[in-house]
This record gives sequence, C-alpha cells and structure tokens, in this order.
Amino acid sequence: MTPRKPTRPDRPGLEHVVSTFRILVAAHSWTADRIVEALRPFGYQIDVLTDGHAAQRAISQGAWDLVIGSSDLPNLDGFLLLRTLRTSRDIAETPFLMVVSSLDPDEEVKAFQLGADEVISEATSGIALRARVRVLLRLSTYRRRLQNEKRMLGIKVAERTRELMEITMATVAALEKATELSDPETGHHILRVATYSALIAEEMGLSAEFIEKIRLYAPLHDVGKVGVPDRILKKEDVLTPDEFEEMKRHTQYGYELLAAARADAMACNIALCHHERWDGSGYPNGLKGEKIPVEARIVAVADVFDAMITVRRYKAAIGPDTATQIITVEMAPRFDPAVLGAFSRRYDQMLEFFRSYR
Ligand SMILES: [Fe+2]
Ligand SMILES: [Fe+2]
Repeated sequence: MTPRKPTRPDRPGLEHVVSTFRILVAAHSWTADRIVEALRPFGYQIDVLTDGHAAQRAISQGAWDLVIGSSDLPNLDGFLLLRTLRTSRDIAETPFLMVVSSLDPDEEVKAFQLGADEVISEATSGIALRARVRVLLRLSTYRRRLQNEKRMLGIKVAERTRELMEITMATVAALEKATELSDPETGHHILRVATYSALIAEEMGLSAEFIEKIRLYAPLHDVGKVGVPDRILKKEDVLTPDEFEEMKRHTQYGYELLAAARADAMACNIALCHHERWDGSGYPNGLKGEKIPVEARIVAVADVFDAMITVRRYKAAIGPDTATQIITVEMAPRFDPAVLGAFSRRYDQMLEFFRSYR
C-alpha cells in the first residue's frame, strides 16, 4: 500500500499552518482516520499506512520525526513495528507513540516494555493526543539537534587532529634541522614510526582515540635530542661510556620539554620511556614489564625496526626479514610479547608502507 498524500489543513483560517515535521501513522484505518483528523489543523506532514509490512518498510526508509503505531495494525502489529524501530541502528531513537486497545490493560505495559515513548488508548481525546504529539516532536527536535552537534564536533576534532599532526611533523623536522641531525631520511623515519605504531596499536585492539594519539605523538620520541651536545650527537665514532650516559638523557630532556609545553601525557610517556625494556634493562629508569606505558612499549618496537632497516650516518641497513628475526628472537626479552605478536601479524602492512615511504 502506498502512503497517502500529506494532509492539508482544510479548516478556514488554518491554511497557513505548515509544519516540516514528518509523522508516520501506522494503524487500522478507523484508528488512523481519527488520528489524522485530530492532527490535521497543525499542518504536519502525515503519511498513513494501514498495513504492517508496508509500515515496516516505510520506517526503515524515511526519516520520521514521530511514528504513531497501533496495536491493531493489520498483518504486523504495532508491537512488532516498535521492535523493528528500536533494533534498527540509525533510527532506533525515533519517538514512538503507541495506540493501544482501551479494553486490554496489558497492552500499555507491553508497549512501554518494548520502548514506546508514550502510550495512549483508542479512547484518548483529540486534545490529549495533540498534546502528547507536541511533546514527542519536541523530543525529536532535541535529539536531532544533539545528533547534528555531535557530528559537527566529530568533524572539528578530526580537523584539529590533522592540524596537530602537521604541526608536530613540522616541529620535529625543524628541530632536527636546527640541530643538523637531519638527513633526507628523517622526515620519512618519523612518519613510518608513527604508522607502524598505529598499526600495532590497532592490532592490539586499543581504542580509536589511542590509535590516533599514538600516530600523532610517536614522531616526538627523540625530540629531547636537541638537548644533547653536538659533539656527541654528530660523533662518527663509538661513544665513550660517559658520552653514552649523556646521550641517554635525551629521554629525560624530551619529557621535560613536552611536560613544560603541557603536551598530552602520551607524548611525555613516549619521549621518556621509549628506551625502557620489558626485561628492565632499559633506561632512564629501568622500568620493567607493564610498568612501562604501553604507548612507549609500542614505539620502542616500531622505532628499532625502522632504525634497523634504514641506512644511518653511522651504520648500514639490514633486510627487513633479518631485522624482524632479530627483534622477535634475539632481542625478544627487551620487548612486550603482546607488542611483538601484533608487530608480526602486521609485518606485511608495515613493509608495504616502508616501501612506499623510503
Ligand atoms: Fe631515542
Ligand atoms: Fe627514531
């Protein structure tokens, strides 16, 4: 059955009342006629369906501000219609007004149990019906406004995240250039570490927020190197034990720099703890196991992997397969087993990214 045309006000003096609210009335024809008659003066856009299956199709297709269903709806009653609505993801929140038989008190309870927003009986007056409809339409307006705001907020957050990512990358690149740490590789190195870290985090089932944050902050892991003297940073030879001690301080410097800038805790943790090791043999604090923040445990693997497979001023590159073998076997005690597992499962994707950003 096709929906009837929206009703037009036919009382003198009410022709000008036109509403944008869309109401679906799904009821037996005599009930539907009474409802339409009562609501007619308000100019709502009302579609009437007197068949349950047609109504079920209509609610999943259209954006309704209100569905009025009756328990006596032929073929698929109002209760089933209500259940369909409440279990359909995008429209589950649509207000539903149930019209029940005035002879059966159990129907009212059942309607509320199934999630009706309001229940009236066939005997309810036109005035009471109109009042309830107004309240439910107001509810629909608030819900829609809230949904729009939520959507707008989501867009703003995504834009802000992108901006922050760009600022972060530019800052790191500028810092590295300023300290002449930079080789043409550096920009790609931090981008790759960010991507590997995000892939590992995703594989570990961490939240979407965590994944975005680690992608954003992983590039800052070595930011503290700006505090390490040039003669150590640029030394071609092996560092003396004292020099190495000084080099290790880049973790502390990075942490202090980021904490002073009131950066996110995740950024600070990554800078401070990316050289900690699962077995407690790392620095600066010799943290062990889960005492090391998970974001730092992830970046540790991503950073070591990328460093191994790329050429640096002071060392040659080794093949990705060999590097993976070394990381997951020889160096395994240094890393969180859960991170290594996720790393191995996402290895192909990392390699693909490495090849496109080398
Ligand atoms: Fe580092
Ligand atoms: Fe690095």
